[in-house]
Amino acid sequence: MQELLLSNGNKLPVMGLGTDDVFYLKKLFSCKNKEINRYIQACNYRLLKPVLKRRLAFIIAKAIKMGYRLIDTSSAYDNEECIGKAIKLSGIPRTELYITTRATNKQQYNGTVREGFLKSLKKLDLDYIDLYMLHWPVPGHYLDAWRELEKLYEEGYVRNIGLANCHQHHIEDILKICKVRPVLNQIEVHPLFTQKPLVEYCKSEGIQIEAYTPLARNDERLRRNRILRTIAEKYGKTQLQVILRWHIENGVVPVPRSTNAKRLEQNLEIFDFSLTSDEVKQIDSININSRLRYDPDNCDFTQL
Ligand SMILES: NC(=O)c1ccc[n+]([C@@H]2O[C@H](COP(=O)([O-])OP(=O)(O)OC[C@H]3O[C@@H](n4cnc5c(N)ncnc54)[C@H](OP(=O)(O)O)[C@@H]3O)[C@@H](O)[C@H]2O)c1
Repeated sequence: MQELLLSNGNKLPVMGLGTDDVFYLKKLFSCKNKEINRYIQACNYRLLKPVLKRRLAFIIAKAIKMGYRLIDTSSAYDNEECIGKAIKLSGIPRTELYITTRATNKQQYNGTVREGFLKSLKKLDLDYIDLYMLHWPVPGHYLDAWRELEKLYEEGYVRNIGLANCHQHHIEDILKICKVRPVLNQIEVHPLFTQKPLVEYCKSEGIQIEAYTPLARNDERLRRNRILRTIAEKYGKTQLQVILRWHIENGVVPVPRSTNAKRLEQNLEIFDFSLTSDEVKQIDSININSRLRYDPDNCDFTQL
């Protein structure tokens, strides 16, 4: 896997693997009535959790063997143990991997970021994390939480510290108080929601952008898109491969998620072609500011 340089001189793989599994569970057990749906999901999740966790560990190990090196998780995903197992199952040395996890909102509210981090470390069965982030900038708490991350960095528990879901104003606040600058901001980016002003701002501050929901969860509007279809036909690639390549051309690190071996392979097959600058601009122009996930300035942090 190719790597890029972060502002502190450390390296980061140019693409990663997302591991948030919740969507997969929702797909398996859905019913139109929201209440019933929630109940079915809760029951099934409890019953099937051990099986699903084993399956997830197996698929992540497979992904690592295929060539994925950056693994993205969060203590909110309840899968850090699976990732710890997957690392061992893969047989790939720890030093070749780049493990990323995040402090939850609850830990920020409760002032337990450090305890939460140590739990993550234990669940992952690791002695350091490559990149530790704040999952969201929880109002009234994210500056203190950042200071906790700085301590973990200074103590050598984490190689890099970063942010997620931060708007420009959150970053400005952090830059005013920080001793250690954030190297990265993980935000929602895909052709329906390019967030150019924020991406440009981060670039100007030397903060690497990592794209979550980078495939827009295979949104139908992108599947129907003529620009993507034409470019995909030209290169003999799928539209989703073109989208991943577009992230790379823009210097953005995508972390696509798949729990399907064939699609995991497909998502890696993006390093044998490149897009012209005109094609990159054409894909940029698809943007309709359509956010699929939450807006950090307008969401209920107690529910996230
Ligand atoms: N910081 C945050 O707040 C935050 C928020 C959201 C996400 N994230 C991170 O970003 C990761 C990715 O985001 P995401 O899971 O929301 O969305 P995504 O990666 O854009 O899309 C995942 C969906 O696309 C499908 N897919 C993947 N590759 C495909 C392919 N080649 N062909 C067809 N379908 C394909 C997957 O289905 P199959 O599994 O069936 O292939 C899955 O349903 C997460 O897993 C998580 O690690 C972070």
